[in-house]
Amino acid sequence: MNPENLLLEVDGPVALIRLHRPRQLNALNDALMDELAQALQQYDADPAIGCVVLTGSDKAFAAGADISAMATKDHMQAYGEDFITRNWERMRSVRKPVIAAVAGYALGGGCELAMMCDFIIAADDARFGQPEIRIGIIPGAGGTQRLPRAVGKSKAMDMVLTARMMDAAEAERAGLVSRVVPAASLLQEAMEVARTICSFPRQTVMMAKECVHRAFETPLADGLMFERRLFHSLFGTHDQREGMAAFLEKRQPHFENR
Ligand code: HXC
Repeated sequence: MNPENLLLEVDGPVALIRLHRPRQLNALNDALMDELAQALQQYDADPAIGCVVLTGSDKAFAAGADISAMATKDHMQAYGEDFITRNWERMRSVRKPVIAAVAGYALGGGCELAMMCDFIIAADDARFGQPEIRIGIIPGAGGTQRLPRAVGKSKAMDMVLTARMMDAAEAERAGLVSRVVPAASLLQEAMEVARTICSFPRQTVMMAKECVHRAFETPLADGLMFERRLFHSLFGTHDQREGMAAFLEKRQPHFENR
């Protein structure tokens, strides 16, 4: 693929996707989100890729959905074209881990896109917010659902109702991001984390991701049962035998993704 709004790079088993509409602070329009959905699907299907890193620029991960593209939309148009669902929601079907590496602004749809990823690594200058209320709308790509799950009701309400931004330190304290790193080393750190994930058995990583996602979709008893069944299934694999044998023999494991 030859996208106009993304920069794509592959480094060993890690695919790096950079959002690239620099003049609009990576405002997310349909063309960009179509390309992103396509790139994610392509990497997910590629057996050589084990993990995806999604990032923006130094100034902005993404400053939101593209307001100029939404300004004149009417109800039937939004419904008819399946706005958001058609392309943004494709992220939910990606089975390999996707890490958001966020520097600068992650606002509105940008914050929602980061939260759709499996976890967020933030630069120390990152700023998160759901400021949609300022332009007469509410978050529409999961902000009212994923943000309270990440930071609790009180902080989520505060952000959604007042449009205030959260800095990286607060985002880490609140559990929105998994780690904060110096802005200058964000990409290097995120790629290193991705390489670590890629060193583990591929299908086991995918099962672990699937299980954690279940925690947000099911009652505890069902989630535990889902986890237990996948856990049991791993005892039929080469990589379980190899991983445990390597530990006991005090050597590095040699995983074969089977
Ligand atoms: C379209 C945008 C944009 C956006 C910035 N730009 N954000 N264009 N949609 N969301 C454009 C500006 O119009 C400007 O274009 C250029 O990017 C640079 O932005 P500035 O405002 O000049 O930069 P700065 O002064 O540094 O301010 C940065 C900012 C501000 C604080 C991030 O741009 C801002 O408040 N942006 C909007 C944030 C927002 O409301 N996001 C939520 C959108 S609604 P020109 O041509 O003038 O240079 C949303 C809905 C989600 O996301 C629900 C469905 C997914």
